Amino acid sequence: MVNRASFSKILISDTRGDEIAAYLSARRPDLICRVRTADTLTAADRVWADALIGFTVPVDLESSSIRWVHSTGAGVDGLLRPHRWPAGVTLTRTTGELGDRMAEYCLAHALALSQRILVFQRDQTARRWAPVEPAPLRGSTAVIVGAGSVGSAIAARFGALGCVTLGVSRHGRPRPSFDRVHAVEELAEVIPAARWIILAAPLTPDTRGLLGTKVLSRCRAAFLINVARGGLLDTAAVLAALEAGTLVGAALDVFEEEPLPADSPLWRAPGVLITPHIAGVTHVAEAGAAFLEALAQLEAGEPVPAAVDPARGY
Ligand code: GLV
Repeated sequence: MVNRASFSKILISDTRGDEIAAYLSARRPDLICRVRTADTLTAADRVWADALIGFTVPVDLESSSIRWVHSTGAGVDGLLRPHRWPAGVTLTRTTGELGDRMAEYCLAHALALSQRILVFQRDQTARRWAPVEPAPLRGSTAVIVGAGSVGSAIAARFGALGCVTLGVSRHGRPRPSFDRVHAVEELAEVIPAARWIILAAPLTPDTRGLLGTKVLSRCRAAFLINVARGGLLDTAAVLAALEAGTLVGAALDVFEEEPLPADSPLWRAPGVLITPHIAGVTHVAEAGAAFLEALAQLEAGEPVPAAVDPARGY
């Protein structure tokens, strides 16, 4: 039996809400969009809407009429965390070309390190001529935690430059862009091979703190890149690994608390480059297109590839 659903009253709670509403209205004039922020949202909005678009859920879904939540991002931990997800509320997400953008971020930092760009910049400031040959990416091993669409895009880019790409996923099933994929239980055994450790996995109860002392103390002069979520890392273990030299540096784009608090020791940790959650910004057109595609599938009673299993968290 085909289970068709219809949605017409769309509540949008996002910093770019007006732009998302304009995108949707231009393509589906039958949709009624209401843009609200956490401050302007009222109880009436909650029982008016049948769908919500956002990166967090600013309402108690159980006491609302909302039957579908569409995430403007790929990670849905911010939507799931504070709530018990009510049965029957569909959750979908925007992936768009996020993987490509995050892959460029990861490559930029890996190349900057292997080409010693910061070192030569410092040498230049001191007018110092100190030749050291760059270490090529070719032949180095990238361990990419998360073998979904983002992890695969990263693996494809690193593989194209001659890196060995080892994925780490829940089940360790083979994926096309990786040389091999290991199950997450094997992470500690795989990690000593890594020159690049790249985090591209969703934050779920199972992945929280995945990279702690047990794993990071086994690294051998690895460089850590986190484009996923701060909660995957144990910050104290990262600082200890930097101190011990098992990590030689890190490029961190995401943090447990954002903005990263001014008193975080990460700001001043040697070899750490902090960026303000910019590696994979969703564009309005991507969020809008992903919403409209899922809407058409829900209306037709077809499978929705962008759907997330709220119990699994991705
Ligand atoms: C960004 O952090 C996203 O989840 O899309």
